[in-house]
Amino acid sequence: MANEINHFQEIISHCKEYGYIFQSSELYDGLSAVYDYGQMGAQLKKNLRDEWWKSMTQMHDNIVGIDAAIFMHPTVWKASGHVDNFSDPMIDNKDSNKRYRVDHLIEAHAETLGKIEADALIAEMDKLLSSDDLAGLKNLIESNKIKCGISKTSNWTDVRQFNLMFSTQIGSVAEEADTIYLRPETAQGIFVNFLNVQKTGRMKIPFGIAQTGKAFRNEIVARQFIFRMREFEQMEMQFFVRPGTQMEWYNYWKDARKKWHESIGIPSEKLRYHDHIKLAHYADAALDIEFEFPFGWKELEGIHSRTDFDLSQHAKFSKKKIQYFDNDLNTEGKPYGNYTPYVLETSVGLDRLFLTVISLAYQEENWTKEDGTEDSRVVMKIPAKIAPIKLAILPLLKKDGLPEIASELMNQCKSKFHCFYEEKDAIGKRYRRMDAIGTPFCVTIDHQTKEDNTVTIRYRDTMIQERINMNDVLNVVSNAIV
Ligand code: GAP
Repeated sequence: MANEINHFQEIISHCKEYGYIFQSSELYDGLSAVYDYGQMGAQLKKNLRDEWWKSMTQMHDNIVGIDAAIFMHPTVWKASGHVDNFSDPMIDNKDSNKRYRVDHLIEAHAETLGKIEADALIAEMDKLLSSDDLAGLKNLIESNKIKCGISKTSNWTDVRQFNLMFSTQIGSVAEEADTIYLRPETAQGIFVNFLNVQKTGRMKIPFGIAQTGKAFRNEIVARQFIFRMREFEQMEMQFFVRPGTQMEWYNYWKDARKKWHESIGIPSEKLRYHDHIKLAHYADAALDIEFEFPFGWKELEGIHSRTDFDLSQHAKFSKKKIQYFDNDLNTEGKPYGNYTPYVLETSVGLDRLFLTVISLAYQEENWTKEDGTEDSRVVMKIPAKIAPIKLAILPLLKKDGLPEIASELMNQCKSKFHCFYEEKDAIGKRYRRMDAIGTPFCVTIDHQTKEDNTVTIRYRDTMIQERINMNDVLNVVSNAIV
């Protein structure tokens, strides 16, 4: 594990060095648990978002996408239960004044124990968390002599619940202003638009509404880089079904979502399911799709059977009827009539998916060359279809008409996919830079190109180079990124 954590530090540094991710407001010493995506990161993130959007809205003819506002009427969060229930048990160390999320504090302690003791501790914690036994959790921390990492003491406050929503004011003058929240999930923007979309889109159940967008949570222990952030992006889909069919659809989406992760290059053995013991206030079944991050197995995506909780709550708080008239026949030949649909939710964090992709892609390779000398490289083996830049076009020299031929190729390809042009430095150095960025194909234009219109194409993963006709470059790359 120690080595893996070190490796994780190298991934973080690499992301900064090659324009993937920067600490937010770094100029002012940064803002904790908030990150900016650089020129490479923003493109990779967009590619992942586009893949998800396509798989939901283009590949399913019964799923449509929306883009709801971040600000919502404050009653939305009362109705959804977030005002009363969206909190985590926290504990403060009285000597260091440091606040911890109780589950993180206990989990970190469990990592220092042997497997049997650790499993017993986590099982006990899960039991106490699921019964909201705050005093029991404090006892567990004390009886295990868990210490604060800063003060090294066990001088703890009682365990208390802290709401994770950020609030702000809307309105021009303080007296008129209303407190509103930055949304902690995108899902509610879908629920409050259920009737709008169903009616205007003439949607028939079962159908889904998908959305991507920012969400905000005042995470107390925000750590592990972009794994747990205060501002992050979610890709959520709410699938509306007939009551009583929810388990069938739960199993469908459980399977479909894992397959989707595999389709973007995440190996099956790096993914697993984890059923929830403690269900959220809205769910009758829930599981996580976990990924084996460099720091252990953690949640990547949640699949939740949310019952009719959200639509019923919004109907109650808005005093409006939110129902669906189902005029299809059921198996007994009776019409269903009006009902409140049940909901299956798939919810994946885009930043977590990003972290998954770069953790898998980052590789340090060493080898012995034919002449007996050692060589090495850092390469990001990002699958070609999501890599930020697909093709680097590299004239061997800055003269003899080679840049002009390279520009011609750029003009042929750049409307189809992202290309990168570079003429500076020795070719080996340019290849290494493209490996580090994760560009799957490099094409070099040299003097032979002028004679026979061939170029050297170099494949990032194998480093194999071959000569192909310049007219074939567009097809080779296009075929690899579909
Ligand atoms: N609408 C349901 C919902 O929000 P969740 O399990 O709290 O469920 C869904 O969040 C996904 O959002 C998680 O699986 C994770 O990928 C991502 N996520 C949640 N909190 C996050 C945070 N603080 N930073 C980054 N991603 C987060």
